[in-house]
Amino acid sequence: MLIRRPDDIRPSEITPESAFLNRRATLAALFGAGAATALPRAFAAEGATPAAPPAPNLTYTKNARYTVPNDTPNSWAEVTGYNNFYEFGTDKTDPARNAGTLRAKPWSVEIAGEAEVRGKFTFEDIVKPHALEERIYRFRCVEAWSMVIPWVGFPLGDLLKRFKPTSKAKYVEFTTLLDPRQMPGQSLPVLDWPYVEGLRIDEAMHPLTLLVTGVYGRELPNQNGAPLRLMAPWKYGFKNVKSIVKIRFTEQQPRNSWNVAAPNEYGFYANVNPQVDHPRWSQASERRIGGGFFARRQPTLTFNGYAEQVAGLYTGMDLKRYF
Ligand code: MTE
Repeated sequence: MLIRRPDDIRPSEITPESAFLNRRATLAALFGAGAATALPRAFAAEGATPAAPPAPNLTYTKNARYTVPNDTPNSWAEVTGYNNFYEFGTDKTDPARNAGTLRAKPWSVEIAGEAEVRGKFTFEDIVKPHALEERIYRFRCVEAWSMVIPWVGFPLGDLLKRFKPTSKAKYVEFTTLLDPRQMPGQSLPVLDWPYVEGLRIDEAMHPLTLLVTGVYGRELPNQNGAPLRLMAPWKYGFKNVKSIVKIRFTEQQPRNSWNVAAPNEYGFYANVNPQVDHPRWSQASERRIGGGFFARRQPTLTFNGYAEQVAGLYTGMDLKRYF
């Protein structure tokens, strides 16, 4: 997302050479030489034999209502090796390499704003009262690539109700940890840190919206947003904020990081919409990670295939304007 292009264009093809080399030098200084030398290379796991995921270490049930028909989930190697998490670098393989500095245990989450119950809660306070389930969701990045991912988590709405939002709570804001020692990418002005995102309260309460604690039956790896991240599968991937430390109920629409960085390119709603192109590329089709670099692109589905469940949230709204 740094140079905001579909990721199947090599950075060296579209970035002025000097800027590209500068970026390599900065990342090398920050993360070590490996980060820089790996930058222009294609993702190593793509097209490789899918690596089997390690044995599950979470207790959960499989919710068979949420599957992706005629499609198989991406491999463990792809889900945990091809990531966007700019707090650990801007290349897709950087988070897997660099996120070891994040300490996901112990963890706490602050609940703030327009709710009767507020305060600081431990990870266990947040998660323990809820039964974990596995749901297989489509995942569509704004950069026009996609995956199918077996998340483990529970409906976010079940958590939010516990804090008794007031009638003024029209939106929910989510904030990622801010700590450049644990998240070295925050030393660079790539985004206005910490990463923040928001949902309208009805989107946050929608039964599809998950608070995710795991993937492939295991606790979330750091690069996927340990220990808690959002998953609203009808929205572009950037809505799904990782490593959440604060949830705030608000009356006003919260800021969201990519909208702040480039308001004409990334909106607040970010609903997957093949009819509304990104200003610099089409959103009509997508490249499935793992299909190999030359695999045919597949058509993108309205609301990423979840229109039946979520279209009603946007009745009467001009989705070109509220993109
Ligand atoms: N959350 C934080 N804190 N920082 C990020 O850079 N990237 C977003 C989103 N959440 C991001 C983030 C983007 S652009 C995408 S596509 C998804 O995380 C990627 O999630 P994944 O790496 O688990 O596939």
